[in-house]
Amino acid sequence: MDISGDEWEEVTEGDTTFSIYQDAERIYDASVFYNPKMAINRDLTILALSSIIEKEEKSISFLDPFAGTGVRSYRILNELPNASVAKIIAGDINQIAIEIINRNANQLKLHDKLEIKHSNAIDILDALPWQKDTIKIIDLDPFGSPIKYIEESLRSLKINEGYLFVTATDLQVLCGKFPDSCYRIYNAMPTRHFLCHEVALRILIYNLIISAGRLGLAIIPIFSYNHEHFLRVKVKVKDSKELANQQHKELGFVYFCKTCSYVETVKLSQDIESSHCSFCKEKLEKAGPVWLGKLHDYSYIEYMLKNMKQFTLQLEKKIDRVLNQILNEIDSPPFFYYIPFVLRHCKKEGVTLNQIVESLLDEGYIVTRTIFDPQGLKTDAPYNELIQVIKQF
Ligand SMILES: C[S@@+](CC[C@H](N)C(=O)[O-])C[C@H]1O[C@@H](n2cnc3c(N)ncnc32)[C@H](O)[C@@H]1O
Ligand SMILES: [Zn+2]
Repeated sequence: MDISGDEWEEVTEGDTTFSIYQDAERIYDASVFYNPKMAINRDLTILALSSIIEKEEKSISFLDPFAGTGVRSYRILNELPNASVAKIIAGDINQIAIEIINRNANQLKLHDKLEIKHSNAIDILDALPWQKDTIKIIDLDPFGSPIKYIEESLRSLKINEGYLFVTATDLQVLCGKFPDSCYRIYNAMPTRHFLCHEVALRILIYNLIISAGRLGLAIIPIFSYNHEHFLRVKVKVKDSKELANQQHKELGFVYFCKTCSYVETVKLSQDIESSHCSFCKEKLEKAGPVWLGKLHDYSYIEYMLKNMKQFTLQLEKKIDRVLNQILNEIDSPPFFYYIPFVLRHCKKEGVTLNQIVESLLDEGYIVTRTIFDPQGLKTDAPYNELIQVIKQF
């Protein structure tokens, strides 16, 4: 295809200006995919990398095997301190994407650190363990599910205990519109109800843990997030069978009531006492297997927050709110009560979330708001205690 026409357009994201080839009205019809709404995903990538650099005091090497226009790679090279980025590989299967990346690399003078590969991602990932310079961070951003690329990525990251960043945009599958597809692709049952996004993230992490475990590896989630139509999980790889064994004990299912919002988690090896809600007798819905452990690592999130001011971030206020909320709920148990359903069950109106939070704190429970739902509360209080607290008002 000839891309010498006048469809070239300059775009600025963060502090980086680069060219894209806009040959269609809809982003999905363009020869090479560029979605400006995903700038928040790339902003958070820059912040996460800055936290890794700060924690490990090393320069990073980064693989972007689904590079598209290459925006993520340019931003990393342009916006992080020069000495802290050793090398980036940007690959794509689409020849036109490669031409766009080459043009931008010339314009931005990035060729000394940017290696460009016209290749299937699987071939790049397969070749990595045999190369001298190992890659420290792999970022998977394919169309739809990243699942096909997880095992190859983890294998490449084993040697130097690197990091895997994963984007999934198949939310219709992971959030329960196509449960059979979810079961086939992720070997887990999703839900369409109020826990759908947290379940989706935890199903994705469950899959990372299972793939890692087969290779004798464990993964530590450092940042997990959902926004509009994508999920994003960033994990650190650990070469430890012992840790992997422990992690497998934190896998399980969530059972919940769609009517009153009763929620119960069980480990894979456990059974629930009854398949019906003991509060309103509805049949409980089951989702999983899921990861029941922590979704984030405190120290990385703290550095991300601290470093925000160093960068030009598209949605700065939103990112600040998200990171603070994550810090706030990091130690809360998995899943949450959806308070409007609990109030309806208690036949109470007008009780605010803040009143409930205050009362549960007074009773000595952990209780926080949650990033997953403005009407949700995460707490270690059992459901009957929550009801008692609400009934006082
Ligand atoms: C979601 S887009 C990537 C967007 C890009 N990472 C960004 O931040 O703008 C997915 C890209 O993967 C490429 N792709 C699809 N299948 C591939 C494969 N098997 N190997 C390498 N690239 C592939 C597509 O050509 C497309 O450019
Ligand atoms: Zn119920």
